[in-house]
Amino acid sequence: MSNKVKIQTTQDGSPTLYSSTYDQTYHNPGGAVAESRHVFFERSGLEDQLKQDDPITILEVGFGTGLNLLLTMDRHLAHGERQPIHFHSVEQDPIQTNIARELDFTPFLEHGTALDLLPGIFENLHDGYNKFSFWDQFDFTLFKGAFEDYHPDKLKADFIFHDAFSPDVNPELWTGETFEKLASLCSRKAVLTTYCAASAARGAMCWAGWTVARAPGALGKREMTVASLDASKIEAMGLEQVNNERLAHRYEIEDFD
Ligand SMILES: C[S@@+](CC[C@H](N)C(=O)[O-])C[C@H]1O[C@@H](n2cnc3c(N)ncnc32)[C@H](O)[C@@H]1O
Repeated sequence: MSNKVKIQTTQDGSPTLYSSTYDQTYHNPGGAVAESRHVFFERSGLEDQLKQDDPITILEVGFGTGLNLLLTMDRHLAHGERQPIHFHSVEQDPIQTNIARELDFTPFLEHGTALDLLPGIFENLHDGYNKFSFWDQFDFTLFKGAFEDYHPDKLKADFIFHDAFSPDVNPELWTGETFEKLASLCSRKAVLTTYCAASAARGAMCWAGWTVARAPGALGKREMTVASLDASKIEAMGLEQVNNERLAHRYEIEDFD
């Protein structure tokens, strides 16, 4: 599939892309950077972890513009490049290098260096695993291909950024099997976050063994979703759980169709 995209400016001034293939933007039109920071950095607890020195492994589903990588790199540079970070992402339809060159996230980054590196990532990508090493302690692996074909070796992520298009247009990334596979690719205490609060998506997570909770969404959106395989992690985050058993059952009997 070739995903046709056009640059748009969101309300916080940061750029996003509109995909005519999916008839959807890559981020909330209210603010691409504001949404990413809220969903993947603040609500997951990653923001605090990026101030420590322990190694962190991140797995993103849907690389898109690369914004989440840029924000992670920026925190890494701000913290003196000391923390080992392994960032993995999956993308079946990478954007063109010339589009990446036009995505100007400069006002949102402390360190422009991260942005300078972005276009180079999209040049010469081959199918499968593309490995990059930016600084001594920061490596990045981009799997070019469908998530369904992604079978990394020994990956144990601490944070999962589930950043697909919405379930109605991108259903294959919101199935119970997808969340089962994600469960096999992360540590027990890993935290998965997504902007999506749809019951069917939460049901698929519950069915796959995740403990699912609601959290306030970005930009005035009522809810987003936070999940972990370890219920005590969710309790420690002080979040209100959904009715996990009931949603898993509804998913099982296909009550969401
Ligand atoms: C909402 S956009 C990603 C937003 C991205 N994280 C960003 O910050 O720009 C979803 C992305 O998932 C990719 N995608 C959709 N279905 C996929 C699949 N089955 N496997 C891999 N990538 C997929 C799309 O091409 C798109 O780039």
